[in-house]
Amino acid sequence: EQHKIPKEPGLDHTLELLKEGYHFIVNRANKFDSRVIQTRLLGEKAICLVGKEEAELFYDNSRFFRQEAAPSRVQKTLLGVGGVQGLDGEEHRHRKAMFMAFMTEASLEEVQSLAKKEWKRLLENSNDEIKIYDAAQIVLTRVALRWTGVPFKNDEAEDWASSLSPLFEMASNIGPKHLKSRWSRVQLENKIEGLVKKIRDDSIRVDQTKALYHFSWHKDINGELLDPHVVAVEVLNLLRPIVAISVYVDLTLFAVYEHPEEADYARQSHDNLQHFIQEVRRYYPFFPAAIARVKKDFTWKGYQFKENTMTLLDLYGTNHDPNIWKKPHEFNPSRFKDWEGSPFDFIPQGGGEFDMGHRCAGEWITIDIMRVTLDYFLNDVEYVFPDQKSGFDMNDIPPISGVTIKIRG
Ligand code: HEM
Repeated sequence: EQHKIPKEPGLDHTLELLKEGYHFIVNRANKFDSRVIQTRLLGEKAICLVGKEEAELFYDNSRFFRQEAAPSRVQKTLLGVGGVQGLDGEEHRHRKAMFMAFMTEASLEEVQSLAKKEWKRLLENSNDEIKIYDAAQIVLTRVALRWTGVPFKNDEAEDWASSLSPLFEMASNIGPKHLKSRWSRVQLENKIEGLVKKIRDDSIRVDQTKALYHFSWHKDINGELLDPHVVAVEVLNLLRPIVAISVYVDLTLFAVYEHPEEADYARQSHDNLQHFIQEVRRYYPFFPAAIARVKKDFTWKGYQFKENTMTLLDLYGTNHDPNIWKKPHEFNPSRFKDWEGSPFDFIPQGGGEFDMGHRCAGEWITIDIMRVTLDYFLNDVEYVFPDQKSGFDMNDIPPISGVTIKIRG
């Protein structure tokens, strides 16, 4: 039986997307009472999906592709051109393996101990009142540079932080902020490209066990070195999102502030800490949607998908889908006691498989850094939350609460 995909009339709805933010897709799914809807974004037809089965469909590589799938303005800011996000098939698998080779247990332990060390260092040297987001950016920039083996002097970390953060803070903006984000990317790509060339002609020595060195010597499926520019894009695919974990750190402490009783729950055990972190990633929004395009015409549950149609999977909506989650709008870490671990129902960092699909390469790093950070703030630091107006709106992309703490001496 054929069904028509419910279609929102009108020429373009990009402005509503900016206004409604994380609720854009769910608002339409509810209005049309359908998990598959059609609208128009950035001047073209867009199918939007929400839900577990829909996520499973979206991550079927035989039905969707990624080449040029992301809008150009997002490539020029957030993602870069030529990176793993826009590859398909064998080329994608080979490049993704370059990333996943760094997600070993030893490497994850290293990132955790770096994070602990940098938090200690920062708090020992800071004022009483700390804006968590700002502090986390410095900490995570230092973690990112060290973990990837990018050489830097102590006093350069802040510069790195202030050029890395616009890549993810301003990617969704228009006007001057968008330009600032593009400008930061150009600067960073040039800087890293310069390092790659020096590594290749042996004019600098860097840690040979780290990603910067490995990516510089990585060979593509034809046995050739990557273009140095592409290496820079991929190194930024590690640096940028590690610094972006500062958004989740801000939200984690905001959750502690908003839900003190759940913070007590988290203090009880390692598992409970993990549940709290998972609930932060489920409950709060961050990355709005994953984007792909239809490979060739197909029909799914009676809906027709036409070749090349831009298709968005709603990550926030799926994490709040009442068909999957009981009372989805309650912050309740203990729900993760019973979570079965499906790759398609809990997708703040994308769904499906790591190696064969486009699921976030850094999901484990993210969880580990969030957990050691929460552990540190719950068990090692004495602080109070001063009176404050922290919070964010559902069209702030990314959402930053601005939560502040005051250290008790
Ligand atoms: C891809 C979210 C942290 C590296 C993705 C995707 C999302 C995402 C939604 C796209 C999934 C898709 O297209 O289907 C996040 C969030 C993070 C985060 C919310 C929290 C800060 C990280 C970290 C790293 C990382 C820490 C690396 C250290 C990547 C890479 C990809 C990716 C390389 C591309 C994967 C591919 O195309 O195969 N991430 N991520 N991310 N992420 Fe993350």
